Amino acid sequence: MIRSNSIFLLSSIILFLPLGSVYTKDFNALCSTCRQLVDKFDKGLEKTAKQNFGGGNTEWEERKLSKYELSEIRLTEILEGLCDSSSFECNHMLEENEEHFETWWFKRKTKHPDLFKWFCIETIKVCCPKGLFGLDCNTCIGGADKPCHGNGKCDGDGTRSGNGKCSCDKGYEGEFCLDCSDGYFSALRNDTFSLCKECHESCDGCTGGTNQDCKECRNGWEKDPEGACIDINECTKDPATCKDNQYCLNTDGSFSCKECDIRCSGCKGPGASYCLTCADGFKDEESTCTDINECTEDPALCKDNQYCLNTDGSFYCKVPAFDSEDSQTGDSPEKHEDL
Ligand SMILES: *[C@@H]1O[C@H](CO)[C@@H](O)[C@H](O)[C@H]1NC(C)=O
Repeated sequence: MIRSNSIFLLSSIILFLPLGSVYTKDFNALCSTCRQLVDKFDKGLEKTAKQNFGGGNTEWEERKLSKYELSEIRLTEILEGLCDSSSFECNHMLEENEEHFETWWFKRKTKHPDLFKWFCIETIKVCCPKGLFGLDCNTCIGGADKPCHGNGKCDGDGTRSGNGKCSCDKGYEGEFCLDCSDGYFSALRNDTFSLCKECHESCDGCTGGTNQDCKECRNGWEKDPEGACIDINECTKDPATCKDNQYCLNTDGSFSCKECDIRCSGCKGPGASYCLTCADGFKDEESTCTDINECTEDPALCKDNQYCLNTDGSFYCKVPAFDSEDSQTGDSPEKHEDL
């Protein structure tokens, strides 16, 4: 009784251990390793195709060449260049399957010229054909030619992994990627095809592509008498939205507050010509604010041993021989009188 129990236990471990490890394999990674192996193999084929024996073309050499073409020597040369020494996954897969490459090379190549299909899909079974997924290579939703109806990606597509569920592209949703997301409308649709286009920026939901097809207007937009959504000019509606020394800039669906030009004290637009009044150190001249040159307006501004240096909105008094440590600045002429 005890004995048969332990035999059962033992046999079930032996039975299920390999099966269990199959299911924990990362087929996505294995498939991409396999794809790289095959790509490298094809490159190796190309590289060795033109190999000749000293450049001659004698009959003997021709014969020798065609012998080389199918030779074990050529296969070995290709296999040697297949993996970088640093790639564990590649070397592991190659070591485990060297026999398969030999079999293909000597016995299958003619009947099964597509190495990827023969090796990765049919022999070691880590990949599936395009549009198929999972351990048994099931067909993706929407069919293998147009997974997810061309509007998304099928989970595990082309590998032995994944569950075949669609993750839809922007604008599409639903199990089949045939429905349109919020902010999109259906421009074309039948059982197997769907084209969703983006709503006009003024719309909150729509039935077509213009501002006249909105279900509702988005924040910052309002319906005009014809029913189209048009921008609300927040700046004219409520002029006090921005701080002192800022102006309001209306944009489609919104607005922003921008700093006034430094030459302004308060403004209604960009640049010095939109000042309400001029900032200290600037004067109104031909309806724009320009710098006051304190140095020329008052030649006695600085002390005898200093010279005057005008700057935008201000000035310096500098001692010629010394550096800036000895200079004085003025934010405005009035302030300078204190120095
Ligand atoms: C669905 O529409 C597409 C695009 O217009 C078309 O190519 C396809 O044949 C249509 N299919 C059916 C079943 O009507």
